[in-house]
Order: sequence, then structure tokens, then C-alpha cells
Amino acid sequence: MDSVKTLAKALAPVCGVDEAALSDWIEVPKNTEMGDYAFPCFRLSKTMRKAPNLIAAELQAALTLPEGFVKCEAVGGYLNFFTDKGAVAGTVLNRVLSEGDAYGTSTEGNGKTVCIEYSSINIAKPFGFHHLPSTAIGNALYRIYKALGYNTVGINHLGDWGTQFGKMITAYKLWGTKPVDEYSIRELVALYVRFHDEADRDPSLNDTARAWFHKIEQGDPEALELWTKMKDATIREVKVTYQRMGVDFDSWAGEAFYTDKMQPIIDELREKGISKLDQGAEIVDLSEWNMPPCMIVKSDGSTIYATRDLAAACYRKATYDFSKLLYVVAYQQDLHFKQFFKVLELMGRDWVKDCVHVNFGMVSMEGGAFHTREGKVLYLDDVLDAAVEKTYDIICEKSPDLLDKRSAAEAVGVGAILWSVLYNSRIKDVTFSWEKVLNFDGETAPYVQYTHARACSVLRKAGERPDTFDASLLDDPESTALLKAIAAFPEAVRSAAEKYEPYVVARAIMQIANAFNRFYYEQRIMADDLNVRAARLALCDATRQTLKNGLNLLGLTAPERM
Ligand code: ARG
Repeated sequence: MDSVKTLAKALAPVCGVDEAALSDWIEVPKNTEMGDYAFPCFRLSKTMRKAPNLIAAELQAALTLPEGFVKCEAVGGYLNFFTDKGAVAGTVLNRVLSEGDAYGTSTEGNGKTVCIEYSSINIAKPFGFHHLPSTAIGNALYRIYKALGYNTVGINHLGDWGTQFGKMITAYKLWGTKPVDEYSIRELVALYVRFHDEADRDPSLNDTARAWFHKIEQGDPEALELWTKMKDATIREVKVTYQRMGVDFDSWAGEAFYTDKMQPIIDELREKGISKLDQGAEIVDLSEWNMPPCMIVKSDGSTIYATRDLAAACYRKATYDFSKLLYVVAYQQDLHFKQFFKVLELMGRDWVKDCVHVNFGMVSMEGGAFHTREGKVLYLDDVLDAAVEKTYDIICEKSPDLLDKRSAAEAVGVGAILWSVLYNSRIKDVTFSWEKVLNFDGETAPYVQYTHARACSVLRKAGERPDTFDASLLDDPESTALLKAIAAFPEAVRSAAEKYEPYVVARAIMQIANAFNRFYYEQRIMADDLNVRAARLALCDATRQTLKNGLNLLGLTAPERM
């Protein structure tokens, strides 16, 4: 199936190098006249003590050409391989068309559990544009791992604990005007802002707030009820936004969930002599690893963020027995993760090697435009709404006859935003620009979605597609390139999971979209020769299917008309 692997297997005995290394060395020549795959023989000149062109000639003579290949040429220091295009095309198309929505999936993860923590928003705080990368990348990884057969657990580690909830309750008690569960996030945020304004004038409010937080901690019914309702109101609202983005979670266990799970950790750290007292606080000294100490218990007796993370990791191991635990969290928290992973290691939790901080860069708006009046936070919902509105205008212009413009605009507008953080390596900072993300001809989601809709439209207009076709008729360069891009898709899905990089899938479907459009312009799909037509329609259908599968793995939808 995988031509590179087949070649590596055939080359291994004649070169005396193992298959895995050979797979990495095999190249895909830019110019297809040079073959479909090439092996650069200079890689062996050290060990074989010969000039690359001599090695090439020698290997050519010794090699038995594997199945699926028709020719091998020694040119310069290279061995160039030519595949049997008809056979390869047939295998690829039959696989895609028979597997359908499952093309790209596998069973390699069966029996293993991957926990993925992503989005992890804070209660009664804006669901901001800055939460986009964690949400989009985490959701894509969740879908990718699921497709590979893993048992996946999506976790929203809510920021629902801390002294700010004492402030929220104080503010609500003083200035609340309706039942707390009727508050929107924006209204809750306004209460919080007002608290800070008034506390500047009247610092005693801070004491009231501390007292309220203490009550939450003690389980006071009124305090707990208000806190729970604020939490419910926030979750209710963000669920709408998550739904727009195709995002879901298996667990919403936030920081508060670990309140009663920290004491055993604190005790263990003490007993094992890992933590120590430092000016009334309990810390783990990490100077030996060139890191500042990890705070476990503050001098006032309260636990902090890191303590909850230690408890959460142990809880997840005990509950899910994960083979991997991924934290999709911004690189600003690199140090925090290094610190608490080190503490887990010191505690003898050898599974900490399976915990990965999947970090990412910052997103910002080009020119700093589109900020709220308060100046700082940009709500994700507002960005999505604006994207959908702008897309709607574009669709009205491009496809005036489309019936359901609204739902196409929603799919494409939201997709464009998700794509903006899925198309590049995670760690890159992203400067967001409307021109870039909504360009239907650029390297964008709308372009891929549009290409998918184009393939659907070709198939629709062609009517019933013949079941049988002769794949060897797909021997023109455009078809060959398109088939190659489609064949590479399953490996891209695997590689994206291995690197925790959804962009590998995004790039793979971008290549397919590009190759399809070249094919579409250069070759007449509705050829007069009915056999050629049948083969090209099958290729068009396989393109449609693979683009759809790829978009779905990234959390995007694939409208059939737009
Ligand atoms: N709620 C946190 C924030 O918004 C992110 C939580 C990250 N996850 C974790 N396990 N520490 O900054």
C-alpha cells in the first residue's frame, strides 16, 4: 500500500541499511519525469566507500523490483523508481471509495487511552479569542486520535476556583439585579470590573470577598449555590460557542473538582521529604534543575494552581489509566508544566513521561483592531459572528443562487477562524487578518471547503457515477499528482498525532485541493470517452471524500454547496 515502505523493504537487503532509515532517505522528485520516488545513493558512499553513481549502478543490478513498480533507472547518484500508475491508481481509489468516511482512520490506537485537556476556560471570565488555539488544536487532536482508534477523553479543566469567586459573590450581593443564573458572561464580567473599581475606593470590600471565598471553601450552602449558578450560567453560554466550533468534552472536571484530592498529595510530598517549609509556605525546591521552587501550599494555608494540577494528573492516571495525557496550553505556561512534571517525577510517578505539554504560540489581531470598548478582551463569539457575516456577504456575491446561504456562511466563517490556528506549526505566533483568513483563493479553509463543494457539484451534475472504472486511464500528470496527494492522507493523520500537530492534516488536504483544482482545469472530467469519464469521476469522488474526512478531523464541516 505505502510505496515508500515497499521500496525501503526491497532496498534494505541490497544496501545493508534498515528499512526505517531507508524510508527517511527516499525522496519524491519534484519533476515526475525523474520518477515517482528517488533514492539518493550518496547516503551510502561513506559505508560503501564508492562514488554515488557507482553505488546506483550496483544497486540497480542487485535489486528485484517490488510489486507496483515498473522501472528503476540509475541516473547520476540517484536510483529513480517508476510506479505502475494504473495499479497504484486502482488501489488508492478502491481503498478510498470502499472505506468512505473511514478513509484515514486506523486501529493502531485500539486498547489505549489518550486524555486531552484543552480549552480550559475560566468561569465568569470572557471566552476570549486567546482561547481559540487551545480549543481548536485540542479538538483537532481529539478527533485525530479518535480516528486512529484510541479511546479519547476530552477534558475541559475549568478555572472555577480561586479568590475571585469571593469577589464575584460580594459584587453580586451588593449590585445584583436579577437571579444569578440569568446572568450572561458579559454581565458577570461587568460585576467583576465594578468590584475592582469600588474596591479601589473601599478596600474593606476585599475583606468581604475573602470571607465569601472562605465560605465557599467551607461548603456554606448560600456561597456554594451562588458559585454553582455562576458556573452553570457560564457553561450554558460557552456550550453554544463550542457547538458552533464542533467542540465537545467528555469531562468538565475543573480545578474545584480537586479540592478534596490535594491533601494526600501534600502529605505524600511531606512524608517523602520532597517538599519543605519556607517562610510558612510549602514548596518543592527545584534549584537543582535550574527552576524556581514549585509552590504547593501558600503561607496562609491555601493551595494553588500547581497543587491542583498535581492532583488532577494523579486522578486522571487512576481514573483513565491513560497511555498519554496531553495538555494543550499556551507556551506562557512552559515553566509551570516543567515544574509540576518534575515534582511528579520526584514523587516516583514514572508515567509522567507520558504527560506532554502541547504548547502553542500567541494569536493577535492585525493592527490590534477589533477590540472591545474596555480595550482588552476580544470575545471569541464576536470574532465568529464577524467571520460569518463577512462570509455571508462573499457568498451572496459569489453564489447569488445558493439556497441556504446562512448555513454555508456559518460553516465557512467558523471554519476560516479555526483554520487560522490549524494551518501552521503550533508554536508559531499567529497574526490574524481578515483578508488572509477569508481569501477564497488563498491557503484557507474557505478554499478547501470551496474545492470540496466543487467536487460535489461535478458529481451532482454528472448524475450516477459508474461503479466500475479503469484506473489505468488516469495516467496524465495532474491525475497522478492528485492520486499521490490522496494516497498520502492516512500517513498524514498518523503523523499529525505523533507530532501533536494538526497542521499536518491541514497541509495534506490543502495539497489535495490544489492538485484537484489543477486536474479540474487541465483535464475535462466529463470527457467524451465514457471510460475516461468514469475514471475521472471516480477520482473526483475520492477527492470529495478525502477532503471531507480531513476537514472533519480538524473540526470543520464540509458543505456540499457554497
Ligand atoms: N484555565 C487556565 C488559563 O486560562 C488554563 C489551564 C491550563 N491547564 C492546566 N492543567 N493547568 O490560564
